[in-house]
Amino acid sequence: MTGGPALTRVLGDLTEQRVDAIVNAANSSLLGGGGVDGAVHRRGGPEILAECRRLRAGRYGRGLPTGQAVATTAGRLPARWVIHTVGPVHSGTEDRSEQLASCYRESLRIAAELGAATIAFPAVSTGVYRWPLADAARIAVDAVTGSAALGDFAELRFVLFDEPAYRAFGAALDG
Ligand code: APR
Repeated sequence: MTGGPALTRVLGDLTEQRVDAIVNAANSSLLGGGGVDGAVHRRGGPEILAECRRLRAGRYGRGLPTGQAVATTAGRLPARWVIHTVGPVHSGTEDRSEQLASCYRESLRIAAELGAATIAFPAVSTGVYRWPLADAARIAVDAVTGSAALGDFAELRFVLFDEPAYRAFGAALDG
């Protein structure tokens, strides 16, 4: 019995990952933005936004709530699916850790339902949403290692865009 999926980290661009599913750090509108979201839509092409618009016209009329996730096509990206999740904005007064953990758990749950065997995550909420890297990395690693869907995967890859994030996730994965 293998010890479950490989938990890996790379310094690179999420949109270039050759995995079944990539997780997009979206906002509740699902209609794009900057950071990872901007890169996913820019590189993935208009099909992704078209599917997001359909989600907004239907099931997610009021937008995707924080901590939830929803899958669309990955358009022109090497991946097969994009799983859009909405991270919490960091707060100094309110502990939103559970919402951030939920982004990872829900993304895994949906990816497993789709039959994905490999999945790549960015450091959700650590950019525009200002979550401190070390804490976000700890929450992310704890959330995925505690996930019921873990056994369905061959690889969970954290894709970090800069050295500080890469180091933070290295420490969390070693921890
Ligand atoms: N590949 C991997 N990681 C990336 C990429 C990329 N191409 N571009 C940015 N990042 C990293 C950032 O450096 C940061 O560490 O992703 C992490 C998350 O940052 P954001 O993309 O700003 O996401 P987040 O903090 O969750 O804020 C979400 O920003 O882009 C808008 O529409 C989005 O409103 C939403 C908000």
